[in-house]
Amino acid sequence: MHQADKKRQAAEAALDFVEPGVDLGVGTGSTVNFFIDALPQIRNRINSLVASSQATEDRLRALDFEVSALSEVGDIDLYVDGADEANKHFHLIKGGGGALTREKVLAASARKFVCIIDDSKWVGVLGKFPLPVEVIPMAQSYVARQFVRARGQPVWRKDFVTDNGNHVLDIYNLTISNPVEMESRFNQIAGVVTVGLFAGRPADVILMADENGVTRRDR
Ligand code: 5RP
Repeated sequence: MHQADKKRQAAEAALDFVEPGVDLGVGTGSTVNFFIDALPQIRNRINSLVASSQATEDRLRALDFEVSALSEVGDIDLYVDGADEANKHFHLIKGGGGALTREKVLAASARKFVCIIDDSKWVGVLGKFPLPVEVIPMAQSYVARQFVRARGQPVWRKDFVTDNGNHVLDIYNLTISNPVEMESRFNQIAGVVTVGLFAGRPADVILMADENGVTRRDR
């Protein structure tokens, strides 16, 4: 089975979590795009939609959905998003698409966070995928030096500006053995807006598609 088919299967399995009257947060990326494309089938169950990026907002609007600001909605019932890596503790690396800050806000605000992945994202130890870090532009080289001290190799994501007007450093070669502690420590570096570790607020459910279909894991 192609990776795209697995992504579609995981995304469509998330439709079952969308209950009538839901205030729904929608993540960013190619897996979530399959979820968005399936949303018209269950349009009548949705009370409001909040997007984690401009790209997601544009895709939702193209399907004639209204998109609300989080501040209009308050907390959301359900957040559906992909990940770049996931482990058995439901810790994630996210931000390959650069939307990590708004994604983290929606995950924090959500009563339930359902993560949709294909099996290539499932890992024993996080960190093979370079850890995305959103930084304010003037702090970029300062923050990069702090990650070198932490034995990472920071690479500036060239020609990329986040929806918040910031830059992204991708940190290679980190072994993320203690995701909760590392998320909290890296968050303390001055100039860091968000690190793409989702461990303090992990996923609640992981829907993972492989050759045999979708497996559901609950935290
Ligand atoms: C975007 C993300 C995505 O969830 C992550 O990059 C996975 O993307 P895809 O579904 O395209 O594999 O965190 O910032």
